[in-house]
Amino acid sequence: DGRPGPRHFLDLRGIDPDRARALLDRAATLKSGRVEPGWTPPLLGRNLGLVFEKPSLRTRVSFEAAFARLGGSSIFLRGKDVGMGVRESVADFARVISQYVDALAVRTFAHSMLEELAEYAAIPVVNALSDDAHPCQAMADMLTLRELKPDLAGIKLAFVGDGNNVAMSLAEAAALLDVDFVLACPEGYEYPETFTAAFAARFPDVPLQVVHDAREAAEGSDAVYADVWASMGQEHEADQRREIFAPFQVDEDLMDLARPDAVFLHCLPAHRGEEVTSGVLDGPRSRVFQQAANRMYFQMALLEWLVQDRTAEDRLRY
Ligand code: CP
Ligand code: NVA
Repeated sequence: DGRPGPRHFLDLRGIDPDRARALLDRAATLKSGRVEPGWTPPLLGRNLGLVFEKPSLRTRVSFEAAFARLGGSSIFLRGKDVGMGVRESVADFARVISQYVDALAVRTFAHSMLEELAEYAAIPVVNALSDDAHPCQAMADMLTLRELKPDLAGIKLAFVGDGNNVAMSLAEAAALLDVDFVLACPEGYEYPETFTAAFAARFPDVPLQVVHDAREAAEGSDAVYADVWASMGQEHEADQRREIFAPFQVDEDLMDLARPDAVFLHCLPAHRGEEVTSGVLDGPRSRVFQQAANRMYFQMALLEWLVQDRTAEDRLRY
C-alpha cells in the first residue's frame, strides 16, 4: 500500500553507526532529564505488548517502566499463555496482537521466531533476548561505557566467557561504535559460524577477535565483562560448563591485569563463585547496577524512535 512497514529492532544489523550514536545521545538526554523545553511524554495512550518465553527481571521491568515514562502502558504475556506457533500460528499471533498494541517486545529461544513475528506484525518488534542476540543489553552497556569514558573510540572491552547472545550483540555494538572488543572463551565455545560470517560481511575492516586465554583478553583492557556460563535453555549443560569454564572466572587477579581504572561489567543475573567472584562483583570496580539502570534509558530512546511517528493507520494495516 506504499506506506513503509514498521521498524524493528531484532539485532544490531538494522542500525548504522549514526543511529547507534543518536540513540545513545537520546538515552543520555532522557536520563539527565534535560529534555527539550515543553517536552511531554510522547506515547500517551499507546500500549506495549511483551511476550516472554524465558524468565526476566531487568528486561521486563525496564521495558514496562520505560514505556510508562513515555506516557504509555504495557501488557505482559507469558509465552505459554499465548502459545505463539503452538496455540496458533506465529503469523496469526502477530497479525492479531498488532490490532491492540503499538509495539511488541519478545523474549524467546530461536531468533527465527522474532524474524517471523517481524514479517507479519504491523507494529515494531523488539528483541528482548533471543538465543542469538540481546541488542538492548549491548546498547545499554555502550551507554554505561560512554558514561565512564566519553570517547568510546579505541577503548578496550574484554568479554570473558561463552560466545553467547550477549557476546554477539556486544561485538556488533562495539563494531558500530569503534570499541575494541575481544572474546576470551574455551575452545568450542566461540561464536556460531553463521554469526562470524555475517559479521565479516558487514564489518570487513573489523577483526572479530577471539582468544582462548582470559588473561590475554583482560590485559590492558578498560572493562572486563562476564555473563553466565549456561544461558537460559542450556540448564542441562550447566554442570559440564562449570568445569570447562572454570579457567574463565573473573577474579581480582584477572582484574589486576586490566588498566588500573578498569571496570567490571555483567548483564546480570550473576552467579557469584562461578563466572565472577563476589570480591569483583561486589567490589569497587563493579558497575553492574549502573548497567541495569541504563537498560531503561536506552529502551526509552529506542521505543520513542520506533513508536512515536507511527500512526494508528500504520498499525491497523490488516
Ligand atoms: N540482563 C537481563 O536481560 O536480565 P533479565 O534476564 O533479568 O531480563
Ligand atoms: N546469556 C544469558 C543472558 C541473560 C540476561 C542468557 O541468555 O541466559
